[in-house]
Amino acid sequence: MADELDVLESAALAELRELQTLSQLEAWRVRYLGKKSTLTSALRALSALPPEQRRTAGAHSNAVKASLQSEYEARKQELSLSTIGESIGGACLDVTLPGRALPIGRLHPITQVIQEICSVFARMGFQVIDGPEVEWDYYNFEALNIPQDHPARDMFATLWLDSSEDRNARLLRTHTSPMQIRIMEEHRPPLRFVVPGRTYRYEATDATHDWMFHQVEGLAVDSDITLRDLKETLFEFCRSIFGRDTGVRFRCDYFPFVEPGGEIAIECFQCRGGGCRLCGSTGWLEILGTGMVHPDVLARCGIDPSVYSGFAFGMGVERITILRYGVDDIRHFYSGDFRFLRQF
Ligand code: PHE
Repeated sequence: MADELDVLESAALAELRELQTLSQLEAWRVRYLGKKSTLTSALRALSALPPEQRRTAGAHSNAVKASLQSEYEARKQELSLSTIGESIGGACLDVTLPGRALPIGRLHPITQVIQEICSVFARMGFQVIDGPEVEWDYYNFEALNIPQDHPARDMFATLWLDSSEDRNARLLRTHTSPMQIRIMEEHRPPLRFVVPGRTYRYEATDATHDWMFHQVEGLAVDSDITLRDLKETLFEFCRSIFGRDTGVRFRCDYFPFVEPGGEIAIECFQCRGGGCRLCGSTGWLEILGTGMVHPDVLARCGIDPSVYSGFAFGMGVERITILRYGVDDIRHFYSGDFRFLRQF
């Protein structure tokens, strides 16, 4: 019995040294240390022996088992390391090399600019909310004084989800202005809100147009809001975003949902008013549409226009970003090209 175990031990150890893979090693473990192995049966047979024999045979069997077990562990360690070595191309593993830094992500330039715009207004007491991109005709047009067949619908080339003849048609919102209505339907004055979000237009894309872009809408309604508040707020906004000494201009413009309506432009920072390609030789860059909320729009939302007044504005985020960073093509923003995105 003792001899048998010694033979077994040396055979097992010899075999162990020849093993090359972890799966061969596992087969070896099952054969020599597993439940059905000779060693395990020998240990089990001990109980049948007379006590004095049992003691020596037991000690011997346990020693053989311990030796096989520890050689097994050592070999396992060796084979695991060489398996890693192979998987990294046979090169040896230098555990002292510094780790590779994982690239840290960043916010998309449009997200950064939206956050910046919203934080300027947040400092002035505006709340930030968002709203649906799939809209009803009613909110996108009808409630904003743009009924069916109104020529102003041509200002907004629309992506329709239902037939545009249908008064309950759904569409992809062409501006964030429908949120003016949703806000006024749900909240009572005093109101101060900004709404960033995606907008869509059915348009051929080129360097300055894309079929999807972002706007930030703003709305303030209270009992004594005047055109002066509008100008004060938006001039301050422009100077926060484009620099304290930037010239800002307010001019009249037309939007059906405001009266009077206006447009705000900043002095062209490339030519400082002299005239260049960026500003189309005008010296000014238009950056947002605005106006005093039309009394009919207030009334439609259940807000009494003889008591309350308000102003609204809407700006294109891509346009502001393009002007600010001198981006030459709007399509860069959604091309997924890291060489472009990494610059921000
Ligand atoms: N919604 C208008 C547009 O997309 C901008 C605007 C918003 C004008 C609010 C006036 C008031 O062109």
